[in-house]
Amino acid sequence: MSTTATPQREVFATRGAFIFAAIGSAVGLGNIWRFPYVTYDNGGGAFIIPYLVALLTAGIPLLFFDYALGHRSRGSAPLAFRMATKVAEPIGWFQTGVAFVIGIYYAAIIAWAGCYMFFSLNQAWGDDAEGFLFGEFLQLGDPGVSFDFVPGVLIPVILVWVITLGILLMGVQNGIAGFSKIFIPLLVILFLALVIRALFLPGAAEGLNALFTPDFAALADPAVWIAAYGQIFFSLSIAFGIMITYASYLKRKTNLTGSGLVVAFSNSGFEILAGIGVFAALGFMATAQGTEVSEVASSGIGLAFVGFPTLISEMPGGGLFGFAFFACLVFAGLTSLISIVQVPIQALREKFGVGNKASILLVGGVMAVISILLMPTVTGLYVLDTVDAWANNIGIVGAAVVGLIVVGWVARKLPLLRDHLNAISSFKVGRVWMIVLGGITTVVLAYMLITQIITYVTEGYEGYPPLITGVFGWGMIGLLIVIAIVLSLIKWPQKTLDDTDASVADSVHEELKGGK
Ligand code: ALA
Repeated sequence: MSTTATPQREVFATRGAFIFAAIGSAVGLGNIWRFPYVTYDNGGGAFIIPYLVALLTAGIPLLFFDYALGHRSRGSAPLAFRMATKVAEPIGWFQTGVAFVIGIYYAAIIAWAGCYMFFSLNQAWGDDAEGFLFGEFLQLGDPGVSFDFVPGVLIPVILVWVITLGILLMGVQNGIAGFSKIFIPLLVILFLALVIRALFLPGAAEGLNALFTPDFAALADPAVWIAAYGQIFFSLSIAFGIMITYASYLKRKTNLTGSGLVVAFSNSGFEILAGIGVFAALGFMATAQGTEVSEVASSGIGLAFVGFPTLISEMPGGGLFGFAFFACLVFAGLTSLISIVQVPIQALREKFGVGNKASILLVGGVMAVISILLMPTVTGLYVLDTVDAWANNIGIVGAAVVGLIVVGWVARKLPLLRDHLNAISSFKVGRVWMIVLGGITTVVLAYMLITQIITYVTEGYEGYPPLITGVFGWGMIGLLIVIAIVLSLIKWPQKTLDDTDASVADSVHEELKGGK
């Protein structure tokens, strides 16, 4: 362990602990709940092409970028960006803010999944899963009308926050890594069993055909590419501070790129497995109802919370299958939520010198209260959907582009980060990494971001009233930018800077020595 770290700074005890925690963060609702419907909505099989392109040109290179930033400075996102170049600090705060807002709605989806575990046992939705979800369960009103509480959702959201903060209070090694080590193997076994079960259902092949039959025309649509990059970023937990924060807990000599490849391929492997399982199940459902897969594959949140309940009602042994499926969502979600909430917690610790436990209770408490006030309400779903769209398609993509422009183009720090990675890692990165990241990826992402902004400005989103998109979409992004700038104007405690300077000096020393 480095003697230069602040006394408060925690570490992952082993590389294995880090890998489990990083996979735990990456594999989440994004893999099981989001990937299948995003794939289906964006050209089915053809989406696999932009998905793989996004993984190789942006996902893995940016994962290495985040690791290098966090590990070199051993700092949270704001500190890591500041140590790369002073003007970049607001980018780190913006990423921290994005993690803050994502955590707020992420907890709500885990809470729904927790309820659906138990609903599955007696198929509480009856014969109208959609009516049940939006009516009886979420009690959805008209967008923007009221924020009346929905008691059935309120208690589970509170519970999710209690569990999450409880895990975080146990610390980085015992809490984050400890829980990931238990939950991730459990998740893999449970999910594999579900996918195998789904593949043996009559009609499963129809579902797989629907998923993998390419609609090549979709490749000409920029929105499909944006969706692929957005999915990869969300799914790999990159460009919103998580991997920077996790890498900052690593010991001085850790194989960063080797670990990154394990994490990236495990995550994508799980994601594709989830797609196969979900669509095999939908194929069964379509066959049972004598209809097309496209008819039963409702988009967005519907896929998990409408499609699955319907399926559960129709298949033999559905209750247990449903319980296990929603348990997977809960496990996967929790190990990701802890990583999301840890981002602002670590940033607060360093910037304001707040103690470990106090920062968890303060940041986690504020997030929990906002989440509890907004999500279990009759308008919660619209807020969730809007925040999710803006946080991912504008926030995360924007943070990635601006981060690359400032660190790569303005400050020209990519060679430094490359040297840091190479000094301690088995898989060496070189010119290709820098050209892909600083050149092609930056330009493509910038183009996509601009296209997305124009689309939202001119077309709105899902027909939601401007009040909702204005406040929870544009307003949220605007507020995060202002807060990021204000926070970066506040001075850092001298001790944090001294420790970080020493830590970076260590890295430089290591690089000069060739890492040994
Ligand atoms: N990476 C996490 C997920 O996929 C946030 O859900």
